[in-house]
Amino acid sequence: MNRKWTLVAGMAVLLGACAFLAGGVKAQSSGTLHAAAPGMPGPQPGDKKAEEQFKNIQVLKGVPASQIFPTMQFITASLGVECEFCHVEGAFEKDDKKNKQTARKMMEMMFTINADTFEGHREVTCYSCHRGSAEPVAIPAVMMEDPKPGAGEAKRGASKESAAPGADALIDKYVQAAGGTAAIEKITSRVMKGTIDFGGHSLPIDIYARDPEKRISFTHMPEGDNVTAFNGQEGWLGMPGRPLREMHGSELDAAAIDADLHLATHLKQMFSELQVKGTERVGDREAYVVAGQRAGKTPIRLYFDAQTGLLVRLVRFGDTALGWMPTQIDYADYRDADGVKIPCRWTLARPNGRFTIQVSEVKQNVPVDESKFVKPAQEAQKEPAK
Ligand code: HEC
Ligand code: HEC
Repeated sequence: MNRKWTLVAGMAVLLGACAFLAGGVKAQSSGTLHAAAPGMPGPQPGDKKAEEQFKNIQVLKGVPASQIFPTMQFITASLGVECEFCHVEGAFEKDDKKNKQTARKMMEMMFTINADTFEGHREVTCYSCHRGSAEPVAIPAVMMEDPKPGAGEAKRGASKESAAPGADALIDKYVQAAGGTAAIEKITSRVMKGTIDFGGHSLPIDIYARDPEKRISFTHMPEGDNVTAFNGQEGWLGMPGRPLREMHGSELDAAAIDADLHLATHLKQMFSELQVKGTERVGDREAYVVAGQRAGKTPIRLYFDAQTGLLVRLVRFGDTALGWMPTQIDYADYRDADGVKIPCRWTLARPNGRFTIQVSEVKQNVPVDESKFVKPAQEAQKEPAK
């Protein structure tokens, strides 16, 4: 692999697209889909069913076509393999590989287990058994080291819940630590310059955000810009020389969260239920973990620094046909800017990739032109060039 290709492949993984798809399959992805309710799993208006868009769907019938790639990424992460483990390159519809056929049986098995044993709740997924390996282990491992005295008590991240403050108090403390409601609400735009680091590469990035919930980032690669954008309703991903890819479902929901300049003051109204889950370590900090449930959407976990009160981690989940894909964002390097504290470094990690953005320059309440958030004409609708 030459450097340029590695870079494109790396960015593709970061953008949630699969580099392996370069040719044929990308062309199948419809560009006409307009997802409505952000974060709503299940079919969206205009979203085709998997079997209508793909050639050989036998088990995942009725699943929205836009969920096939996220679902495949979920399988890939659960088994710790690549797409090629089950697929012939460039011909995903073919059943030439035994693993693909086994995977179909496994899906049926998983659905049956959940239907028969867990009242239809998706408790068991591919990951429950596979744990990142193609060959699940059925036999417990032997003890590899002498037991340490006192070990065992600290297991399972147990914490003294009695002393934990309530979820509302933690959010109030966060809002206060971040500058207070008035200062936060005063921010109407944010322009950031910095670098994005992934897989040994470091590239310049520009991020523009403005109220309400609009955000676009440009990662400057030698061959052009990688774009991640959300305009309040629609989200899209662009790579040089590739058709635009629309965001769907929980991707849109995530983009809306990232674009919200007033997330801190919106947190309480986002959730139908909030629960403090005790404490966990995030890096060298102790943090309170708050689990938030949202009606019709996947839950979100928030980690508040026990001392400073600031948000140090957010974990959200992308829905797929077989299970949830987590995205973990760690926020660090909080700095003062116009009376608010904003994280100038964050690391976004998924099962299949991670990157860190370090911001070097922030400007707020500067004009950011509407035209920045206009979606480019949809090339994906056209027949792909052969
Ligand atoms: C463990 C096996 C496995 C892995 C790994 C896997 N897939 Fe699949 N894939 C399947 C199975 C099984 C189906 C068919 C599902 C069905 O019949 O409902 C499928 C179907 C597909 C289809 C639909 C093809 C068509 O036209 O019918 C695409 C596209 C696809 N996979 C892409 C991918 C990509 C991209 C990856 C890597 C990110 C991947 N798959 C990884 C098992 C796998
Ligand atoms: C209840 C546990 C369980 C669940 C859930 C499960 N698997 Fe498996 N899977 C196994 C076991 C056990 C084996 C290995 C059998 C063996 O070693 O021959 C296996 C084997 C496989 C293999 C063949 C691997 C190889 O190297 O031969 C594939 C592919 C696979 N599973 C895919 C999946 C997918 C995809 C899912 C989710 C839809 C899934 N499995 C869910 C238990 C599970």
